[in-house]
Amino acid sequence: MIKLFKSWRKKANAPEAMATDLDNIPKHVAIIMDGNGRWARKLGLPRIVGHRNGMKAVKRATMAADELGISVLTLYAFSTENWKRPKEEVDYLMSLPQEFLALELEELIEKNVQVRMMGHTDELPSHTFAAMEEAMERTKQNTGLILNFALNYGSHREITETVRGIAEKVKTGDLSPEDITEQLLGSSLLSGDLPDPDLLIRTGGELRLSNFMLWQTAYSELWFTDLYWPEFGRAQLVEAVSEYQRRTRRYGGLS
Ligand code: FPP
Repeated sequence: MIKLFKSWRKKANAPEAMATDLDNIPKHVAIIMDGNGRWARKLGLPRIVGHRNGMKAVKRATMAADELGISVLTLYAFSTENWKRPKEEVDYLMSLPQEFLALELEELIEKNVQVRMMGHTDELPSHTFAAMEEAMERTKQNTGLILNFALNYGSHREITETVRGIAEKVKTGDLSPEDITEQLLGSSLLSGDLPDPDLLIRTGGELRLSNFMLWQTAYSELWFTDLYWPEFGRAQLVEAVSEYQRRTRRYGGLS
């Protein structure tokens, strides 16, 4: 059934309104939010202003994902490689979850959103970890959109540590090598209880995955835009979802 995305049905002449099949919404959308720095440079502003405006785009993407009926939105907010950036920038990025949650947590709770984090989170600064923990605690019973922040996340490390954990179990005799299946490995990853992303979006014009959910995106549909992340909003999410709905997913089989 082809319908216009909820509130936009009323304003069908709006440029962002487009046909979206509400029966074929991707369950899990993952986003590589790239281009904050270049957006700022384009405007002659410091990089951290780009990140701050990136935070506003997080709000827009979250609200649009919720309205569309997406079940999980995973946002790549900080990679295991991002520690290489200047301290001032790292410190600023680590302050954003706190700032975002101070501004938005009440509305997220109202909208039944469940906040989560995924990554090597014990290495986050304590103020970042504490803010996320509080949000997770306060939203853990919520049954709406799962807003999953990838923080200090890196796929190679995730897979390596998961395999090490499985190897330990083999060593102690709790598992035998034959028990190691794709299902076991997938469900042992940090995202183990979530469906794999159906749609992966990357902003900022680069065409790469940058160590993000490499196992989980094996069959994700990829959508790239040259727009910088601070320019991302509901129109782009709908465009990506509409494009997703035009794809035929064959998983290596025949359509
Ligand atoms: C990549 O752009 C972006 C990041 C490393 C950080 C992304 C973080 C946000 C969008 C804000 C997160 C908000 C919350 C609430 C956690 P870049 O800086 O590499 O851009 P560039 O490639 O143009 O330099």
